[in-house]
Amino acid sequence: MDSANKYQLRCVKCGHTTKDFATWFAQNQCCPQCNSKHAEIEYSADYAKLEQLFMGQPQSFWHYFDFLPLYDKKNIVSFQEGAIPLERWTWLEHFAGKNGIDCEIYVYRNDLNGGTNTFKDIAASMAASVFSEIGLKHYCIASTGNTATAYGKYLAKANISAAIFMPENAVAASMAEISSYGQQVYCVKGDYSDAKKVAADYAAQYHVPISAGNIDPIRVESKRTMVFEWLRMLKKMPDVYVQAISGGTGPLALDKAVRELSAHRDICLPKMLLVQTDKCDPMVQAWEKAKQQNFPEGFQNDYPVIKNPQTKISILGTGNPGTYPIVAKLMQKCNGDFIRVAEDKVEAMAKVVAIEQKTHIGPASAVCFLGLIDAIVNKRIQSGQTVLVNMGEGIKRAPEFLLDLGHHIKHVDNVSQCEVGNIDATKDVLWNDLLK
Ligand SMILES: Cc1ncc(COP(=O)(O)O)c(C=O)c1O
Ligand SMILES: [Zn+2]
Repeated sequence: MDSANKYQLRCVKCGHTTKDFATWFAQNQCCPQCNSKHAEIEYSADYAKLEQLFMGQPQSFWHYFDFLPLYDKKNIVSFQEGAIPLERWTWLEHFAGKNGIDCEIYVYRNDLNGGTNTFKDIAASMAASVFSEIGLKHYCIASTGNTATAYGKYLAKANISAAIFMPENAVAASMAEISSYGQQVYCVKGDYSDAKKVAADYAAQYHVPISAGNIDPIRVESKRTMVFEWLRMLKKMPDVYVQAISGGTGPLALDKAVRELSAHRDICLPKMLLVQTDKCDPMVQAWEKAKQQNFPEGFQNDYPVIKNPQTKISILGTGNPGTYPIVAKLMQKCNGDFIRVAEDKVEAMAKVVAIEQKTHIGPASAVCFLGLIDAIVNKRIQSGQTVLVNMGEGIKRAPEFLLDLGHHIKHVDNVSQCEVGNIDATKDVLWNDLLK
């Protein structure tokens, strides 16, 4: 790499290098040699500096500026995202203990991100900053919800107009929020695939750059800083990683960080446990089939497409999992597993988190915790392991979900209808509801 260049993009397919994002966008975000849209970023920074950064106290993921694809700090667009706590939730460890597993469980609190309280904020901050640096004024993106809201807000802060295409089952509050920032919201009749199609047509017709989806280097590069943060806080990699999966940016970013850092330290990919609900589970179905057939040659290309998935958790409604071929190979590499959970348990899960942790999680985060509970009950975790739960969102994304979490509200007109309370008994009822 030319030493004047802080970073360059390398085509994953043919290895061709592109010198920066200005050139990458001038090339229509693809490789001029082979047309692939999948590129990864390499840095000229000295990785010894990363060890020094691990000693610091980040205010945001921009703490890792030397390892991010931006030249000038003055272009940073931030709401203080990506410097969130990794908390040990001991009540989950007690539950694991009762199931015979003596492990440590940490929760990565994306609900405390500054922008929109989801794990999409770092990507939106990276995108708004890169676009400011290269002078982009218009952008478009299709999203099931959280990326839409985060991009809507951050691009508005950078005064960049965004056209945002969402499936009709997206949460109304998200659409209203994005529109309130001055961005265009298009609620597309149909599912996420239909929204993607209209967005692609819009990009072609109006010559507006469009997000490259889950493999987008902007998203992957920003999100990989989560690994830097875990190493800073935990001083090691977790053994097990749990996440609700929709498009797959999380696992791709995790793998990119591990490959990048493995040249400089002893590090390997944790066992990934990726969770979907029974209402939209194309990756779980594909994986089960592959397992049954003992992973035949090309198994990763065999996956179903679920048209109009009937999930109420719209942000996890990727019925056509285009990244499955990449994610499936990673899962094989890390000896991971896909977990299917019952969507009708989402409220019960969020109620248990509320009473145990005094924290309100969003529905997609409840899916992630349901996966953890399944992993514990079915012994997919072993004693001595360190488990990291990447919970993606707080309740702000789905404000009406809070109404579903009330369970002890009694309508009375006099004291004879009241009784002395017992919080321990209430906890037992909620745990029983979850586990039955
Ligand atoms: C809260 C939350 N959890 C999980 C996911 C799935 O993320 P990924 O792109 O890694 O599949 C998303 C995004 O779609 C999300 O917003
Ligand atoms: Zn190429």
